[in-house]
Amino acid sequence: MKIFVTRKIPEPGLAVLRKEFIVEVNPLDRVLKKEEIIAGIKGKDGLLCLLTDQIDADVINAEPNLKMIASYAVGYDNIDIAVATKCGIPVSNTPGVLTETTAELAWALLFSVARRIVEGDTFTREGSFKGWAPMLMLGQDISKKTLGVIGTGRIGTAFALKSKGFHMNVLYTDEQRNEQLEQQLGAKKVSLAQLLKESDFISIHVPLTKNTHHLIDEEQLHMMKKTAVLINTARGSIINEKGLVKALTEQWIFGAGLDVYENEPELSEELKRLKNVVLQPHIGSGTIETRTKMALMAAENMMIGLKGGIPPNCVNTEVFQKKPTT
Ligand code: GLV
Ligand code: GLV
Repeated sequence: MKIFVTRKIPEPGLAVLRKEFIVEVNPLDRVLKKEEIIAGIKGKDGLLCLLTDQIDADVINAEPNLKMIASYAVGYDNIDIAVATKCGIPVSNTPGVLTETTAELAWALLFSVARRIVEGDTFTREGSFKGWAPMLMLGQDISKKTLGVIGTGRIGTAFALKSKGFHMNVLYTDEQRNEQLEQQLGAKKVSLAQLLKESDFISIHVPLTKNTHHLIDEEQLHMMKKTAVLINTARGSIINEKGLVKALTEQWIFGAGLDVYENEPELSEELKRLKNVVLQPHIGSGTIETRTKMALMAAENMMIGLKGGIPPNCVNTEVFQKKPTT
């Protein structure tokens, strides 16, 4: 069987696949256009794709022989799951292996914004540091403050648990109660409005869905404290980026740390000029160890899926349910 991989991923994952399948990897070091993906999957049985690929109905329907889609990411808002399911194609993601790594980046951003690390680095490099000063680059304390976690799935939970050493008061929103956080941190499940009003640091860990699109809009930014810090390592469109630019420009909040953008890889021009925002190029899962684990996980799912088994990280297991015989 044949597999198309939309971009080079760490070799260990590809090596696993090459043992059993014919693997074609996009030779170009860039995101492919839709037509190129469609051309790539011609005659293939499996598609290994990335979060930067729009896997919509046109792509999924382009190759009637397609049997498996393995995505090299945990978030799968870029894939039309309903269409894949209708076509009987299992789709897998890479949960778990990137949880701690992404939670760590959220903390790195939180520290960077609270203590103005990037601003301070630039200031020091450019020769503006003329000696210790009582009012120089004052930031926000973190210990004993209130931490607001929006979404306590795997990543949100890992992020919250890492606050332990800082003795924070933890608030969270989620559809479900998170007993682990309640027991280990005394965390409190609250409404989004209460979380926004009371938190000093707010970090977003929900997937992007119709319900979470612009979950943080101007109205929500207005509810936040003037000293609040907002972190987003989930998906850009969960925040209305224009509204956030306004909030940062007019200092409704202290600052923000972003790893994701509404029109990735484009970002609002104003963000580049604002000092109270720290910007990262979507590298939440970007460590050598984690990217290798993701490659192995995507490969394993692909292999099992192509052999007719249920991929361990299948996100649309409905495809395996027996159709009712009526
Ligand atoms: C990264 O954003 C991912 O979803 O894996
Ligand atoms: C994703 O891994 C999540 O559940 O947070």
